[in-house]
Amino acid sequence: MPPAIETAGLTKSYGSVRVLDSLDLRVDTGTVFALLGPNGAGKTTTVRILTTLTAPDGGHARVAGHDVVAERRAVRRAISLTGQYAAVDETLTGAENLRLAARLSGLPRRAAARRADELLERFGLTGARDRRTAAYSGGMRRRLDLAAGLVRDPGTTRVVFLDEPTTGLDPRSRQELWDVVRELSGHGTTVFLTTQYLEEADRLAHRIAVLGGGRTLAEGTAEELKNRYAGHRLDLVARDRDAYLRLTPHATAHTPATLTLGVPTDGSAAHVRTLLDALDPHRTDIERFTLHSATLDDVFLALTGPDGTEKEPSHV
Ligand SMILES: Nc1ncnc2c1ncn2[C@@H]1O[C@H](COP(=O)(O)OP(=O)(O)O)[C@@H](O)[C@H]1O
Ligand SMILES: [Mg+2]
Repeated sequence: MPPAIETAGLTKSYGSVRVLDSLDLRVDTGTVFALLGPNGAGKTTTVRILTTLTAPDGGHARVAGHDVVAERRAVRRAISLTGQYAAVDETLTGAENLRLAARLSGLPRRAAARRADELLERFGLTGARDRRTAAYSGGMRRRLDLAAGLVRDPGTTRVVFLDEPTTGLDPRSRQELWDVVRELSGHGTTVFLTTQYLEEADRLAHRIAVLGGGRTLAEGTAEELKNRYAGHRLDLVARDRDAYLRLTPHATAHTPATLTLGVPTDGSAAHVRTLLDALDPHRTDIERFTLHSATLDDVFLALTGPDGTEKEPSHV
């Protein structure tokens, strides 16, 4: 099966600002893919190119098997896009919004009404179907927006693009949206989402690409990224200053004030045991230890500067 999304050497500049600098991505069909990056990293630009709204300056991109420049119409038929800002008509009810979207997509009246009801049900909005959307919560609005993007025959929407779908949502609404994404993915739809939240990418995505400096700084499953770029860390508290100094050469993180040293490990019991024995064969130097699992935050910090800017490759 061809990948749902594939880009090769994608570039895009605005004036003298090079936003994308040879971006390569591959998203397998039926998976949830998260493009992770700080504000201004180029996430929306990428989404706009993949959804045919903006033309790239160079490189190629295929979505659902079609070229985003040469086969725009075919791409548009295969995708749905939900923006960062929900575009629903506040003066209409949820059901009216969806019926309108379905009519605009070409469904006859009765079919449109049926489709609207199906989607309200699927997105947990049946109870609010006849309420004006002005009274909807942020999360309900996002879900309605998402539903509106899926009014056509669900079989034809193969890739759903969600640009920062949970930015600005409260935790509960965020959770609801995550459920919807999982459900879409469970139905075999490919989901391409952008996010600034590491936790979101971690929870939701099969694969994650970290965007920085206009290219992918790292790509893989959350687990792979954690192992490759941050791993686990064993924090050792030395018994005294002499012990601390003996252990120092083995450590990658040093906190002299608390006599604490960080030593990389894969986190397995076997390795932790071996490490402790190797570092402190007489069992006199190490007083306590704690094991930290790497988080995506660690990965992100390892790959980008504190302000989200790209680090020099030599520091990675
Ligand atoms: N239409 C545009 N005209 C000029 N500059 C733009 C335009 N769209 C985006 N940019 C610039 O491109 C960079 C990336 O923007 P964007 O793709 O929106 O990032 P993100 O979605 O990751 O926050 C930013 O510096 C932004 O100011
Ligand atoms: Mg954006």
